[in-house]
Amino acid sequence: MDVTLTIDGHKVTVPAGTLLVEAARRIGIEIPVFCYHTKMAPVGMCRMCLVTVGMPVINPETGRPEVTEAGQPVIRWQPKPVTACTEPVREGMVVITDSAQVAADRKGILEFLLTSHPLDCPICDKGGECPLQDLTYRHGPGISRFDFASKHHAAKAYPLGDLIVLDQERCILCARCTRFQSELADDPVLGIENRGRDAMIVSYSDPVFDSHYSGNTTDICPVGALTTRDFRFRARPWELTPVAGVCNHCGVGCNIVLDTRRGHIARIMPRENEQVNEVWICDKGRFAHHFHASPQRLRVPLVRQGDRLVERSWDEALQHVATRLQEIRARYGAQAIGGIAGAHLPNEDLYLFQKLLRQVLGSPNVDYRVGLSAALEDDTASEVGVACGTDLGRVGRDTAILVLGSDLDEEAPILYLRVAGAARRGATLLNAGGRATKLDRHATHVLRYRYGSAVHLVLGLLNVVLHETK
Ligand code: SF4
Ligand code: SF4
Ligand code: FES
Repeated sequence: MDVTLTIDGHKVTVPAGTLLVEAARRIGIEIPVFCYHTKMAPVGMCRMCLVTVGMPVINPETGRPEVTEAGQPVIRWQPKPVTACTEPVREGMVVITDSAQVAADRKGILEFLLTSHPLDCPICDKGGECPLQDLTYRHGPGISRFDFASKHHAAKAYPLGDLIVLDQERCILCARCTRFQSELADDPVLGIENRGRDAMIVSYSDPVFDSHYSGNTTDICPVGALTTRDFRFRARPWELTPVAGVCNHCGVGCNIVLDTRRGHIARIMPRENEQVNEVWICDKGRFAHHFHASPQRLRVPLVRQGDRLVERSWDEALQHVATRLQEIRARYGAQAIGGIAGAHLPNEDLYLFQKLLRQVLGSPNVDYRVGLSAALEDDTASEVGVACGTDLGRVGRDTAILVLGSDLDEEAPILYLRVAGAARRGATLLNAGGRATKLDRHATHVLRYRYGSAVHLVLGLLNVVLHETK
């Protein structure tokens, strides 16, 4: 059912249940937020989204809205401002987001939030992409009435795990990080300890911040309180050159941005794609790129000579490979040559690889996969599995998901988030494997088999599908 309301004089019709902040966004009106995040349940903690709300007065006798002499509905205004991120739309609702009162409310909230803020934007890593900084410029007071010396001080670089650093002074206690970990990552390892000025974000897990998704909290933290250890003090956002890419550390294919500086990867950020990774990436996708600068990385080709691997130039190594391939072909024929390319190579490289095998060497023996996935990939998966064109955002109530022999949280972390989300939306989830995994928490049915007998399980399931569900 749809609901029609008026925001700043503009009529908008949205589905019932839509939050005011989203209804306003539909018609290009931005209501400032800190704690609200589209992917998480609203909590109304920061009060930044205050607006004025009124409802038409209904005549109890006629059941119809009362109107003024000019024919306009009579509006009864709420006595206090309302948080737009928690308020669902209602028919006939009238909302004001642009008035002297709303401006004063926003200014007051920002002043409260800044009472103990360190105001260290010039040395804060979030500078240039910080909602608190941006909204203070737009809506906040120009100067602080508070004495810097009397501000509450706390740890500036508190290690919240190996990867994440917390600046306790900058935290505005919006709880986005704790809610992300509990609601979405399924790793409730963060919480808020103490009360009042002493309240602070802590990790309860051992090891600290034990989650594959910790880096996402730095993206959604609306201030510079959470930062990644590897990017701190390395660059400003405006110094970075963003390059769109796709993560190749697992088969999910999360969309990413490689932010480069002076030709080096400075950081990797998620690139929104609602069909695949929404706005998230896992810690492997975010942090594993450091291998490219590792001193242990092979930088020159090695050619085997007897028992030893000897460094050679690329020209020498390629010449060696070409000579050997020609020798094998001359002696045994092209059929004796086969090539297996890495499954993580991009399409362009795979195209060139098959061209080398088929066209140059004349061999039809070319593949890029090994193991079970090779057997399943083309036929079964493309027909009924997660394959090209799958929109993970649409997997929900009317879907049955079979996870077979995979620990998604470990092997394809963002797929774990999506499958868990689908299960929460009502999908039927069968989690089949040789041991317990984190996904069992969301499974409608857990199927446990002895290692090596997965095929029997699948045949058994097929038997039921073909013979017992006719
Ligand atoms: S650390 Fe950031 S995300 Fe977490 S509560 Fe503080 S301000 Fe919010
Ligand atoms: S789940 Fe992680 S490793 Fe896999 S593609 Fe996404 S970011 Fe990369
Ligand atoms: S954004 Fe609405 S209360 Fe925080």
